[in-house]
Amino acid sequence: MTVRKKITLPVLRNRKKNNKKISWLTAYDFSTSRFADEAGIDMILVGDSGGMTMMGKSSTISVTMEDMIMFCTSVVKGSSHCFIVGDLPYMSYQVSDEDAVRNAGKLMSIGCDAVKLEGGIEMSSRITAITNAGIPVVSHLGLTPQSLSQMGGYKVQGKSLASFKKLLDDITAVENAGAVFHLLECVPEEVTGELYKHVKNPLYGIGSGRHVDGQLVISHDMLGLFVGDVDPKFVKKYADLSSIIKKAFINYKDDIDNNLFPEDKHLYSIEGDDLKKIQDYSNQFNK
Ligand code: KIV
Repeated sequence: MTVRKKITLPVLRNRKKNNKKISWLTAYDFSTSRFADEAGIDMILVGDSGGMTMMGKSSTISVTMEDMIMFCTSVVKGSSHCFIVGDLPYMSYQVSDEDAVRNAGKLMSIGCDAVKLEGGIEMSSRITAITNAGIPVVSHLGLTPQSLSQMGGYKVQGKSLASFKKLLDDITAVENAGAVFHLLECVPEEVTGELYKHVKNPLYGIGSGRHVDGQLVISHDMLGLFVGDVDPKFVKKYADLSSIIKKAFINYKDDIDNNLFPEDKHLYSIEGDDLKKIQDYSNQFNK
C-alpha cells in the first residue's frame, strides 16, 4: 500500500521539475476540505472568495481577518495531506510590512502552509518581510479581485504589450522578493506561456490556460454551487449541486406537508416498563 504524504514545497517544486501538474481547489469549511483531501487534491486555497461564495458578499473587499481565521481554522481541521494556502484579505497587508507579517503569522499559527497576497512590484517589500519571518508567500497576479474597482471589473488581463510588460516586471519582482510560487488569474493562454518562460518557481493558473504547472478552480464554481452574478467562461462544471440540494429541500418540505416524515424507522424506542412508569407519572398531573 502506498502511504500518501503531506504535500510540501519541495514536493511542489519536484512536480514542476518532473512536469507533473497539480490540482488546486478552494475550500472554506471542514467538510469540503475533508472531501478534497480524500479525493487526493494537492492544494487547497482558503480564498477570500469565501466572502462571496459563503457569505453572499458582492466582492471580496469587506472580507476581514476574522472571517479568514474562521475559514482557515475549519479547512486546516479537514485536511491532513493538502498544501493549504491562506488568503490575506483586503487591507490586512496593504498598509505596512508590519501588518503583513502579523496577519500572515495569524494564518500560519492556525496551520496554513503558506499565505497568498495580490499585487506585483509594489508588494515586493511585503513579500520579503513575510518571507524573512519564515512564512512562504504565494503571489497573485493578473486579475486581482481586491483591485476590482481600479481594474474596472472582472476583465481578462495581459492583452496588450504594455500589459504583458507590466506582468513580466511584476512576476520577476515578486519572485526576486521571495514568492515561492505564483497564481495567474484570467490571462490569455499564449501570454501565460510567454510569462512561464521567465519564472523559476511553479506558476499556477486560474482561467489562464494550459501553459502552467497546475490549475486552481473555485470549488463552488465547479460544483454548481455559486449563487451570484459572476459566471466565468473558464470554469468546467463537474456537478450541479444546487439542483440536487434544492430538490432534497423540496422533497423534505413535501414530506412535512404530507406527514410523511418522520417514519417508524426514524424513531427512538423505549422499553415497555419504563414507558409505563413515565406515562403513570405524567398522567397523575392530568387529574
Ligand atoms: O480568493 C480566491 O479564491 C482567489 C481566487 C479567485 C484566485 O484568490
